Amino acid sequence: MRQKIVAGNWKMNNDKDATKKLIKQLRKSTKKLSLKNTRVIVAPTFVNLSAAIKRAKKSKIEVVAQNMHQAKNGAFTGEISAEMLKSIGVKTVILGHSERRTYFGETDALLAEKVNAVLENKLETIFCFGELLEDRKSENHFAVVESQLKNGLFHLEASAWKHIVLAYEPVWAIGTGETASPEQAQEMHAFIRSIIEKQYNKDVADNVSILYGGSVKPANAEEIFSKPDVDGGLIGGAALKAEDFTAIIKAI
Ligand code: 13P
Repeated sequence: MRQKIVAGNWKMNNDKDATKKLIKQLRKSTKKLSLKNTRVIVAPTFVNLSAAIKRAKKSKIEVVAQNMHQAKNGAFTGEISAEMLKSIGVKTVILGHSERRTYFGETDALLAEKVNAVLENKLETIFCFGELLEDRKSENHFAVVESQLKNGLFHLEASAWKHIVLAYEPVWAIGTGETASPEQAQEMHAFIRSIIEKQYNKDVADNVSILYGGSVKPANAEEIFSKPDVDGGLIGGAALKAEDFTAIIKAI
């Protein structure tokens, strides 16, 4: 059975004190929740991962990284490797966020290399993708998403898919306050599952968790999560407030 996941991508927010405070609040607010088959994840910035992991110990909160370099080690100033992340207790890495693709030029080909590095290191990835506004306006959104998945992930063996979580984040809905409607999210998630089934098999398609991301808030989370192919959310802005993030966790 596929897992439900509520993940908070903190992006470049929260210094060390704010990180500790937010983890503490979430520890408390999730303590009594019965989270059957449901994972709660937060992704602080690299420098605060250790502090967050320490504070999240023996809680219901998993701490993951927002990015990773594809090489094992070497002359890559400013970068972070899988081994470094593993050595501080990180087990999951977000890859392919649209902000990485747009502002840091991450291509499908580069992301395929990063995915390989994640798997070689026995880590898991939350792999993000999604179309631009112009793609949707020109009705190219299905083709764009299909090519992102094909180029980033479809070289993998079926067995690798147990280490993959997908996050569909239409770029026009990120940080804009404009959400895909629950129907638009469902339509795309069902499409994603159908192309995975075609490429692999029904088992892989049925078991991969597909998260929706883009302006998920306490007010719209329940309706989005109620859709059969939406297994949770990747939350930006609303993940920075314990109260809002907790409300979104409760919505699942
Ligand atoms: P917002 O929830 O702020 O729209 O951000 C979504 C996102 O980019 C999560 O990765």
